[in-house]
Amino acid sequence: MIVLGYNGFSRGAELFGRLYGATGVGRNLLVGHDAAAALVIDGEVVAAVEEERLSRVKKTSDFPAHAITWCLNSAGVDLDQVDVFAFPWRFSSAVAEEMISGICDSDLPVAAKFDALRSTGELYTGMLSPDAVYQDFVERTGHELDPNKLALVPHHLAHLMCGAYLAGGGDAAFLVSDGRAETLSSVMGELRNGVVRQFDESAVPMTSSLGVAFGRITRYLGFVPNNDEYKVMGLAAYGPPPRHNPLLERVVRLHENGSYTISVPRDIPAYYALFDELFGGDSEKREQFDFRVKVAGLAQHMVEAVTAHQVRALTAASGLDTLLFEGGLALNCVANTKMLERSPFTGMEVSFGASDPGVAIGAAVYAAGLRNRPADAVTTPYLGPSYDEGQVQDALAEYADRVEWQEEPDAASIADRTAELLAGKNVVGWFQGRTEFGPRALGNRSILANPAFPDIKDIINLRVKHREPFRPFAPVILESEAPRVFSMGKKTSSPYMTFVFPVRKEYQERIPGACHVDGTARAQTVNERQNPALARLLRAFTARTDVPCLLNTSFNVAGEPIVCSPRDALECFLATEIDYLVIDRFVITKKGS
Ligand SMILES: [Fe+2]
Repeated sequence: MIVLGYNGFSRGAELFGRLYGATGVGRNLLVGHDAAAALVIDGEVVAAVEEERLSRVKKTSDFPAHAITWCLNSAGVDLDQVDVFAFPWRFSSAVAEEMISGICDSDLPVAAKFDALRSTGELYTGMLSPDAVYQDFVERTGHELDPNKLALVPHHLAHLMCGAYLAGGGDAAFLVSDGRAETLSSVMGELRNGVVRQFDESAVPMTSSLGVAFGRITRYLGFVPNNDEYKVMGLAAYGPPPRHNPLLERVVRLHENGSYTISVPRDIPAYYALFDELFGGDSEKREQFDFRVKVAGLAQHMVEAVTAHQVRALTAASGLDTLLFEGGLALNCVANTKMLERSPFTGMEVSFGASDPGVAIGAAVYAAGLRNRPADAVTTPYLGPSYDEGQVQDALAEYADRVEWQEEPDAASIADRTAELLAGKNVVGWFQGRTEFGPRALGNRSILANPAFPDIKDIINLRVKHREPFRPFAPVILESEAPRVFSMGKKTSSPYMTFVFPVRKEYQERIPGACHVDGTARAQTVNERQNPALARLLRAFTARTDVPCLLNTSFNVAGEPIVCSPRDALECFLATEIDYLVIDRFVITKKGS
């Protein structure tokens, strides 16, 4: 059975721009962002890629035409051969009725209600409805799809299925929390023998979205909501935990069944006024580092308190040992670690597709039937395009007036040569194998450096990433070495950078480049089976330097998608002061450098 999952809407950016005044990247950040496609054949995900990696439009919500074409071509499959097309949104007529009642029952003035009904009507008929989704597919692919082959999977179910599949499909309690799905923002329940039971009384409506509230504070702090929440999380580490939190006293109400109500006005000036009042801020203070740290700490504390409240209810309602957490909120690795360590759960999984890229995988897996997964299946994030040696050489030839290169004979010598470069304080672009899926670079499209140098963060920020100096860089380490360097708590591995760990005291001064201000690190663990090239490089680097890990950051500049092709890598290399670029067995330098 062949199932194609895909997420994205041709008209999303245009409609959100025109009807709701969304501008810039914000036009892509409402519904359908992180457009992607995933192909499942006989129960196994064989290919998946985000549209942004191919179209080069960051976080695009567009119909994923490039991603679909690449997934099908990579497996030699035609659209005619696909049995089911799975889409991770189900705006049924019942959902439309709820949208209408939500507006009618609101306390908006009558004229504003009519406006909202008109906008919502146009959005629904032009983009969200089952008919619009079907038409979009036909128009963009030219394929006369049998309507019975289009499966609309509720958004949160797609999130859950992505996490369940990638965790191996066993029994688990689950929490899904994001900005918004069709009408809800968070659900919890349990998965037993492949059957999903949602605890309906604990569901949280969209109007109380924790993700949206965190996004509004993100914006208040001058960042892009629904995009830069990790910056707020990073900033929070600069201050002590708050002693009392006005957000929990005035904005959030926790209910006994695990749900909650969050009241933040939708209107931008209104929520700025509320936050100024709660935090004692004004336009000047919002620019001050200490004030921003304080507010970030309160926002982060709110997320931790609300998710802990949900986990308490989930623990009481389900006797299972393992927790799956998916949805955009699950990218908050600081909260994730606290959720696990402070709960009775013995295991917790957050997938590499936890935010919206994963719903293309989740929809496909759901339509394919989770229980059909082969027992010996391997889980890997390296699901995207790879390029053979001929393609790499073609790209190098194209840039031959600006770069020169040497070819190492084999994988062992490329690892040794790269380790030597890293030991010598060089910043290296590392490009190997298939592109990783999801928002994090997991060692196939990464910029690597030696974390032993105290000034390496500043060097990368200045020469390559041009990002805020307060943001930490993360280490990648062999799974077998990780417990020696980090206090892993209940975790034994963390292959997707979805948890944060205290760096053991004796190592904090040895890897200052990968240690955050609070002594923690969002480590990625890797083993031979998951990524042989990266594991080999880590062994070669540690043998040479006695430094147990590498600094690993995504191979891109701020605002651009992570590189995908050798040409993308060469462009990024030439536009920055990365010292060396390693693609497969080729070690590339800039001419005249
Ligand atoms: Fe989502």
